This record gives sequence, C-alpha cells and structure tokens, in this order.
Amino acid sequence: MALLEDLKWRYATKKMNGKIVQQEKLDYIVEAARLAPSSFGLQQYRIFIIKQGKKLEQINELVFKNFPFNQSQISTCSHLLVWAAFSKYTFDRIQTPLRQTSIERGQPENYSDEYIKRLYVHLESFDKNWQENHCAKQAYLSFGIALLAAAEQKVDATPMEGFDKTKMDEFLGISNQSELKSVLAMPIGYRDEDNDWLVNLKKWRVPKSEFVTEII
Ligand SMILES: Cc1cc2nc3c(=O)[nH]c(=O)nc-3n(C[C@H](O)[C@H](O)[C@H](O)COP(=O)(O)O)c2cc1C
Repeated sequence: MALLEDLKWRYATKKMNGKIVQQEKLDYIVEAARLAPSSFGLQQYRIFIIKQGKKLEQINELVFKNFPFNQSQISTCSHLLVWAAFSKYTFDRIQTPLRQTSIERGQPENYSDEYIKRLYVHLESFDKNWQENHCAKQAYLSFGIALLAAAEQKVDATPMEGFDKTKMDEFLGISNQSELKSVLAMPIGYRDEDNDWLVNLKKWRVPKSEFVTEII
C-alpha cells in the first residue's frame, strides 16, 4: 500500500523551491539506482550528479533552455542526476562485471569465462543501433527505480528526456573518450507548493479495464 501511496504522491514537478536534499536521501536514491536489475547484470549505464550552483546554471543555459520549452525544474532543483548509457558492448564491459560477480560469490575469477565469450559473440552480433538501444533500456529501468526511491523519501523528482543530449555529453566530458551517452535527466528537490502550476492538478491514467487484458 505504501508503494501505491508514494506513486500517487509523486508527480513530474515543474518548479522546485531550491531547498537542498540531504546527503542521506541522495545516497538512498543513488543506491536504489545502483541496485536495479539489468540485462545479464551488466549495468550498462553510469550516473552523473551535479549539485545546485555554477555548474548547474551552466548546464541549464546550455542543455535545457528552450529544449523544447523552458524547464524551470533545473534552475530550482537541489541536484541534477543524469543517466548515461554505453553506446555499444565491448568484451571488457561484459567480462568485468561478470568476473566481479564470480569473485563476490567466492567462485574462481574465470568461473564464467565460457559464458562471457558466448555472451560477447551474441551481443556483438547486433548492429550499433540495437546495442545502443539495449543499453539505454537498462538505464530507463534504473531511472524508474530511482524515481520510486525518491518518492519513498518524499523527495520530488522529475523524469526528463527533454534536453540536448549532444550538448549534455560535451558538458559532462563524455563526447569522445568513454562511449557513454546521456539518455535521461532527473532533477531532484522539493516542490514549490505556491508556484508550481502542476502541484494540485489531478493525475490521469488509462483505466484498468483498458490497460489490462486478461487471457483466460
Ligand atoms: C521518460 C520520460 C521523459 C519525460 N521528459 C520530461 C521532460 O523533459 N520535461 C518534463 O517536464 N516532464 C517530462 N516527463 C514527465 C511526464 O510528462 C509525466 O511523467 C507524465 O505526464 C505523467 O505525469 P506524472 O509524472 O506527474 O504522474 C517525462 C516522463 C518520462 C517517463
């Protein structure tokens, strides 16, 4: 029940009040994102955190302004979290997490090496678009879990795709070297109860009768 109440409480906050989110709450949200499941357990994404201040003002100016609308969450939030996903699979990005998993489980480091080789051949066989999409989809799952963790902590969080990804990558310094590409942004903070036009408006969702098809 608490989970559903948290989901009803949260909304895509349009204006925050500038109050800083406590470090413990931020850590909790990030830990939820880190614990998310991912395809083959490869965690094909990383998170960047930018705290309120000069850098965030620059990001707002460069990356969010007028894309496609002015988004006042960025100038009023406490922190901005950005999920960036890998744009392709490499042998190393498959081997490292799976070998680390074996070590964590007390197995020999090379326990999964045959599986790792087969998995690499499998994932490598798809084209670049498929690989990029596959990695990005895993980031969305982690992002969704973080959104829920924020709601549980009574921290407002706005899911955002509406920003210039190329400029974001340049700003984060990931354009060339790392093959990471930004996919999602999440400003977190506290809703501006008096000035957010969305704060008291009701949610609408597709009715259950239309949403669910039971096959019997
Ligand atoms: C992947 C994704 C991207 C979104 N991008 C933006 C965005 O760029 N700016 C924004 O204000 N809201 C954005 N939203 C918020 C949605 O408009 C919002 O979640 C939806 O209307 C449902 O409302 P609620 O979140 O308040 O329940 C996005 C939501 C999702 C899930």
